[in-house]
Amino acid sequence: MFIVMVAPECAPVAKAGGLGDVVFGLSHELEIRGHAVEIVLPKYAGMRYEDVWDLQPSHHDLWVPWYDGTVHCTVWFGYVHGRKCFFIEPHSQDNFFGRERMYGYDDDALRYAFFCKAALEYLAASGKRPEVVHCHDWHTGLLPVLLYEQYAQVLGDQRVCYTIHNFCHQGLTSPEVLWATRLGRVDHFLAQDRLGDDTHHGAVNPMKGGVVYANFVTTVSDTHAAEARYGDSACGLGHTLHRYQDKFGGVLNGVDYDVWNPETDPYIPAPYSASTIERKYLNKEALRERFMLRKSWSPLVAYVGRVDEQKGMHLVHHALFRTLAAGGQFVLMGQEQKHNGINGHFQHLKDHLNNNPDSHLELSYQEELAHLVLAGADLLVVPSLFEPCGLIPLMAMRYGTVPVVRATGGMRDTVFDRDHGEHADDRRNGYVFQHTDNQAIDSALQRAFGLWTDYPEDFRSLMLNGMRADHSWHRPADHYLDIYEHIRHK
Ligand code: GLC
Repeated sequence: MFIVMVAPECAPVAKAGGLGDVVFGLSHELEIRGHAVEIVLPKYAGMRYEDVWDLQPSHHDLWVPWYDGTVHCTVWFGYVHGRKCFFIEPHSQDNFFGRERMYGYDDDALRYAFFCKAALEYLAASGKRPEVVHCHDWHTGLLPVLLYEQYAQVLGDQRVCYTIHNFCHQGLTSPEVLWATRLGRVDHFLAQDRLGDDTHHGAVNPMKGGVVYANFVTTVSDTHAAEARYGDSACGLGHTLHRYQDKFGGVLNGVDYDVWNPETDPYIPAPYSASTIERKYLNKEALRERFMLRKSWSPLVAYVGRVDEQKGMHLVHHALFRTLAAGGQFVLMGQEQKHNGINGHFQHLKDHLNNNPDSHLELSYQEELAHLVLAGADLLVVPSLFEPCGLIPLMAMRYGTVPVVRATGGMRDTVFDRDHGEHADDRRNGYVFQHTDNQAIDSALQRAFGLWTDYPEDFRSLMLNGMRADHSWHRPADHYLDIYEHIRHK
């Protein structure tokens, strides 16, 4: 099958979160199975260009209709660790992607509407006719809309699979986007059964457009799919999902085990596997050295991820102090989110703990360093308020790092409590708590510290259970291929 991924991110060149890992990992697995996969991305100024091999213009003259004119684009081609990537570079005063960051601009909705339109123009102009276009998150929600409304004649047989990684960001914007993309007909598209937002009257909701127009819609775990449909986790889209329940489901993400593999990891000083797990402690030493933590016989707890309200940062804050009070060490590596009040808080905390030999706060995300943190830590806290999938705990388990997570979204499907629940002993792989208050995470951490300190052999079994579980892309790719086949023949 020929599949084109259209996405705002692809790891490691353009990654803000797990979405980037998914686009890379799923594409990789599909290619291993013999499918042809191409990835279309914006050409961001701030990409990690050192990870793109043989970058060169592949299409010089792409003219993308925009308002009542056209925007000239160059499409670049390059390999990202083996994946075939096409990068769209518009030449216009708007300078859509030639900016410092990927996201967080007032015109984000227009930037990505343009991206969707350009991606389709590119398929049309280059003669590429994938069987399936797989697009991701609100940024590409307008793609199936534009495909159906404007490109059906040229790109008639393309089917769209639309994956939602985060319902919290839906790309709400004014109807101007309808003029910019030449969809026009404001009343028609603003109708509640098309792109009109259910609560913000008069606003265009690109993610809703994706749900309504795509041939199949997924989110990244079964539990989150149910939460979104029946609970309030879909941030206002529950009704729409319910309406389209026949084409909506959960597919749990996988992890690319070629990238996240402690046995072959080039970013850690002492590679190890389940049978040489004692070598993990060499990495713990290296991590301590790297962050100038003192050597001691104590558990090392990590938080890795965006510094964002979604992640339950007040509980991360609490876990940090609890860990220090219990004689442990704490490492945080979190990416700063612009326009986010929490940020200042952790910067302040960093200054406050500057000379503390048992903690380190790294307020930026560094891919290579993330490998060392996961390899060096004993425990990983993920107290998210909501978590569609939660890739970090899956990666952590691969490195024998025991997750301490809140029971929400995909983490309900992947992390099973050591002491409670109905899972067989050899599937229990972490600690799970329910509530979002301090006591909840306290009791989970306390249980974890207790096992680490008093029953090291049992703690080791927990580590091994995590390492042995299969969270590769193997099963999820089967699942996506079934979906692709299903929509192709509809
Ligand atoms: C988003 C979600 C996260 C998920 C990731 C990849 O970042 O918040 O739970 O793992 O997308 O799908």
